[in-house]
Formats: sequence, C-alpha cells, structure tokens
Amino acid sequence: MIYIGSDHAGYEMKEAVKHFLEENEGDMDYVDLGVFTTDSTDYPDIAREVAEKVSENKDARGILICGTGTGMVMAANKLNGIRAASVTNEAMAEMARRHNDANIITLGSRIIDQVVAQKLVKIFLETPFDGDERHQRRIDKIAEIEQKRDHKNT
Ligand code: RB5
Repeated sequence: MIYIGSDHAGYEMKEAVKHFLEENEGDMDYVDLGVFTTDSTDYPDIAREVAEKVSENKDARGILICGTGTGMVMAANKLNGIRAASVTNEAMAEMARRHNDANIITLGSRIIDQVVAQKLVKIFLETPFDGDERHQRRIDKIAEIEQKRDHKNT
C-alpha cells in the first residue's frame, strides 16, 4: 500500500502523482491522506499521518510533498521505523532505495517539476533494497539510535 500526502504547497503535485500512479502503477493501491484543498496547512500534521501508516506496515510506502520536501522529511523521520528521504533527482531516488531502504520519499513542488516528480516516484516504487549485509547493518544502527532516544526520553 502507498500512502500519499501533501500540504497546500504540494497539493497540485500530489494530484499529478496520483494520476501517474493510476495510469502506470495500477497494481499498487494508494490512499490519499490529504490535504484536499489549497488552504494553508501545517506540513507536520500530514507527515505524521502518512508516517504513522507506513511505520505500522513494513511493506507500506509513503510519498510526502511540500514546497521543498524539507519540512516533510524532518517530521516523518521523527517516527520510529521511518526512513524518509528527500529526493530531487534520479540518483537520489535510486540510492535511497538501494542503500537506505527508504520507506518514504519527500518531494518539493517548488524545487522539481511534475514530470521529474513522477519519474522519482516510479524509481522509488520499483527499485529494490540491495540487502547487502553492510547496508542492513547501517540501517540497524539507525534503529539503535531510535531505541536509545526512546530510552532517554522515558
Ligand atoms: C509552505 O509555505 C512551505 O513552508 C512548506 O510547504 C514546506 O516547503 C516546508 O518545508
């Protein structure tokens, strides 16, 4: 399952990405968690909704869009189990999957155009994690940081 969300700045790009998913990734279902208008909204609210869904299911993926991709990636990465990557080009999208096993990508509607966004989404959805021991070890270390943080905060 793909969870998609945006703030007001990313709304139009979200609609374009949804159109792309319907046309090209028909075998993958998506859920649009908003926003549904261009009224001003706070990106952490949507980042949290999408990240919560993705963190509950290891096979789920998320796509978050704001003006730059920056606010969304900052907020999404606060949740345990989220490996969100802000990507602006094809190499970043590919490596986020191959090396980092990213489960969310964030896009900036004021940084890239819709054609690029659709291409990055395609790469994100179709590229596997390499799964090498060294990449897995590094991802496990990210999870260790989460554990230590949670322990410290209780
Ligand atoms: C909204 O103006 C803008 O700040 C937001 O979409 C995003 O770019 C934040 O990182």
